[in-house]
Amino acid sequence: MSSAVLEEAEQIAREFEYPAAEVERGVREYIREMDEGLRQEGTTLSQIPTYVTSVPNGTEKGLYLAVDLGGTNFRVCSIDLHGDTTFSLTQSKMLIPRELMASGSSKDLFHFLARQIEAFLRIHHNEHFEAHERRRLQGTAEEELFDLGFTFSFPVRQMGINKGTLIRWTKGFNIPDAVGHDVCALLQSALDELGLPVRVAALVNDTVGTLMARSYTSPGETGTFLGAIFGTGTNGAYVEKLDKITKLATIEHSDYDKSTGEMIVNAEWGSFDNHLSVLPNTHYDQQLDAESNNPGWQMFEKRVSGMFLGEILRRVLLHMYVNDFSDFLKVGASDVVVPENSNLYRQWGVDTSFLSLAESDKSPNMEQTKTALKDHFKIENVSDRDCQAIKIVVHAIGKRAARLSAVPLAAVLISTNKLQSEDLVDIGVDGSLVEFYPNFEGYLRDALREVPEVGVAGEKKIRIGISKDGSGVGAALIALVASKEKAKVKAQQAL
Ligand code: BGC
Repeated sequence: MSSAVLEEAEQIAREFEYPAAEVERGVREYIREMDEGLRQEGTTLSQIPTYVTSVPNGTEKGLYLAVDLGGTNFRVCSIDLHGDTTFSLTQSKMLIPRELMASGSSKDLFHFLARQIEAFLRIHHNEHFEAHERRRLQGTAEEELFDLGFTFSFPVRQMGINKGTLIRWTKGFNIPDAVGHDVCALLQSALDELGLPVRVAALVNDTVGTLMARSYTSPGETGTFLGAIFGTGTNGAYVEKLDKITKLATIEHSDYDKSTGEMIVNAEWGSFDNHLSVLPNTHYDQQLDAESNNPGWQMFEKRVSGMFLGEILRRVLLHMYVNDFSDFLKVGASDVVVPENSNLYRQWGVDTSFLSLAESDKSPNMEQTKTALKDHFKIENVSDRDCQAIKIVVHAIGKRAARLSAVPLAAVLISTNKLQSEDLVDIGVDGSLVEFYPNFEGYLRDALREVPEVGVAGEKKIRIGISKDGSGVGAALIALVASKEKAKVKAQQAL
């Protein structure tokens, strides 16, 4: 089926190709930026030390609280770790009001979070809550506090397991007065204002939580090596040798357990190659960045993660539509128009779930795509040919994202020599893209095999598993590590 519109779509699709040689070039640069980030602060790849120096093995036990601030929702949960790789989790989830995400003060935001924690405790742990209230009012007996893991999925400069200052907001958040402040202290003071029996014990990035949760639940003896998120944003954390994190000597930080010789590092790979020395950079990528609220930042994330793929697609479709020389959405059915109030005209108006849907639509007339075009964009009577054209560009954008995702994975595996030293490397992943985008992992694995130091043999050693609830279970596990360390220090002081 040859037509000018399909040819146009194919031509745009070619702009999104990310061939093997480029993957390899990306890997080289990633390794360079990775090393730079381990040596000094303020680099494009932050390589943040997390002070978490061991991964769980499934025997950990206890009841912990966890909260998760990182995307569109705020989640509060309590997790009971049973000590046999299983856990039970009670949670409540709520939308973060938009005005708190982008225009309020940090006080408003953290007060809102503390209120949600209070409501959760009243509903799910009322006995503990009321006992604490009684003791507090009587000023008697020692307080029994819940240890809480705070999953805060933004770049922070971490100074200890529960201490870290916000470097910058990402993913559409923008509350300037929080930047430079210790987010654990902000949450703790909001909790204290309400008199809640909660101690913020650990500061957790969602990737570190994913790594920990996967390690707790994953089958077999092998500890998990890397945790990654491919969702609204993208990032990864991995186990690094302590002696390679040389910048630790220059950072003022709390004490941590050095006995394992390792530490989990949060790469913040969303900011890989912000200076664009190797990343692909189409006209659509450039426009998206220029009109974002953080131009020049999170350049890798802007090509890979869920928050941005819909926006790239929107810009491509709009470009095709407004092009007078293109028939796209114009002929074939006389009354096809994009109405003025269509989401196609609205920045961020295309959700990445639309890409997943179009990519997986196998029906001959692309009925699902047509329904989605009508429901989400008020575009009706779209021809089969135009749906095919949409699918061609969707595929190109999604595939590029998946192939780009192979770059940090390959680079970290090569730099740590993991594929040489192990028979199996376990990776925990989470996020809507890797979970729902058709064949995301398949395209990623194709690209991994094309990297010579990984190859077919290396790729086979990589086990990738979805790690659900990383931000809950993982945060609980880190709160557990933190409270054990606190007890250790206390015992040492008592000697
Ligand atoms: C944040 C990371 C986070 C990732 C995935 C990025 O925008 O900077 O801290 O891990 O999103 O949620």
